[in-house]
Amino acid sequence: MAMLNNLLLFTLTFQLLFSLHVSLESSHTTGDASQFRKKFLELAKTPEVFDWMVRIRRKIHENPELGYQEFETSKLIRSELDIIGVKYRYPVAVTGVIGYIGIGEPPFVALRADMDALTMQEGVEWEHKSKIAGKMHACGHDGHVAMLLGAAKLLQQHRHVLQGTVVLIFQPAEEGLGGAKKMIEEGALKHVEAIFGIHFTNRVPLGKAASRPGSMLAGTSFFEAVITGKGGHAAIPQHTVDPVIAASSVVLNLQHLVSRETDPLDSKVVTVSKVNGGNAFNVIPDSVTIGGTLRAFTSFSQLEQRVKEVITNQATVHRCNASVNLRPNGKEPLPPTVNDVGLYKQFKNMVGDLLGEESFAEASPIMGGEDFSYFAEAIPGHFAFLGMQDETKSYASAHSSLYRVNEDALPYGAAVHASMAVQYLKDKASQGYDTPKGFHDEL
Ligand SMILES: *[C@@H]1O[C@H](CO)[C@@H](O)[C@H](O)[C@H]1NC(C)=O
Ligand SMILES: [Zn+2]
Ligand SMILES: [Zn+2]
Repeated sequence: MAMLNNLLLFTLTFQLLFSLHVSLESSHTTGDASQFRKKFLELAKTPEVFDWMVRIRRKIHENPELGYQEFETSKLIRSELDIIGVKYRYPVAVTGVIGYIGIGEPPFVALRADMDALTMQEGVEWEHKSKIAGKMHACGHDGHVAMLLGAAKLLQQHRHVLQGTVVLIFQPAEEGLGGAKKMIEEGALKHVEAIFGIHFTNRVPLGKAASRPGSMLAGTSFFEAVITGKGGHAAIPQHTVDPVIAASSVVLNLQHLVSRETDPLDSKVVTVSKVNGGNAFNVIPDSVTIGGTLRAFTSFSQLEQRVKEVITNQATVHRCNASVNLRPNGKEPLPPTVNDVGLYKQFKNMVGDLLGEESFAEASPIMGGEDFSYFAEAIPGHFAFLGMQDETKSYASAHSSLYRVNEDALPYGAAVHASMAVQYLKDKASQGYDTPKGFHDEL
């Protein structure tokens, strides 16, 4: 997940809800779909599938690749898909791979994994530590790939039960470079009716999952502004136009966007995290650069607009000029991740059936962002957290240099992915899905 820093609220609420959890929905589908699910989990735990997923995950972990540079990761995915006999499209969005399992006709349901690593130095000493200095899989995307391949293996073995087609989306560049957006632009969601994504978390126990209906992760964007005045002698301010005062005023006034213009019950964040300007005690600088991030679930573009207005108008008040960049360093803004209510109910029921009702918890929304949001904005989508914390409590948060994936979570991820796809297609079929013709060219 991109930019996921503060999960504390989520943890507390989760633990509370978790211990009090009472399922109000008992209308579980029973019969063959249920049996398949149990079988998927058993199979995913066998050495044939489990050890294979672990090997793949470790191999990717040793060779972390940044956004749009996932060439070896992509190659590994394709060679494994070749071995298990899954057809795919490649390249999609530079390194992306899209696999297809099933009848090759609608309905199409997608499962998504992200492939990229982060610019960080791994701090964990172990046999399969990152071999690339300054790059690390610290968000679990190595494990996400392995468990989607695990799901591919399970689904391919049971392709005769699929009442439609499962689309396996291996996307590049989740961490701030808009990989999902590019995948969509290159047709990844063509004919796809629903999409599911899973992210590991250390905030949920191993073998359990958490999600929520509606807004789950915040919309995210970044801004940078250069406030320009006229520098000069610090003791003769009347001959200067001081950008330090203008920048200070900007930083304070930006705080009012949340405190005074936002419904207190609607969560938003405006953080100025960078202030750069001046380097002498007796010189007023020519300019000051500030930067930061915005988080919101609603009215995101209005917030961006107001940030721009406050910066430029406050600069004017102080006789300075300001230029505002809402896409600094090419960073793409992320829409909020909003879970489809119907898919959420299906997911919750499926997890209850697969892992037990006590294994599902309602997550609180968090201000971190995820580019899965692009998919969920384009079509109905559902994003869930998969637990990996055990009694050692030693699994660090995402984006920590001490981050580790609990590999025991891989079979749960594979089984949850595969079961959700089977369930979705089964439910569609029971609704009497009218299959349009002429979709074989998709494969
Ligand atoms: C701000 O921009 C205007 C128009 O380009 C220019 O005339 C003025 O000198 C600028 N002010 C500063 C402080 O740079
Ligand atoms: Zn991630
Ligand atoms: Zn991340």
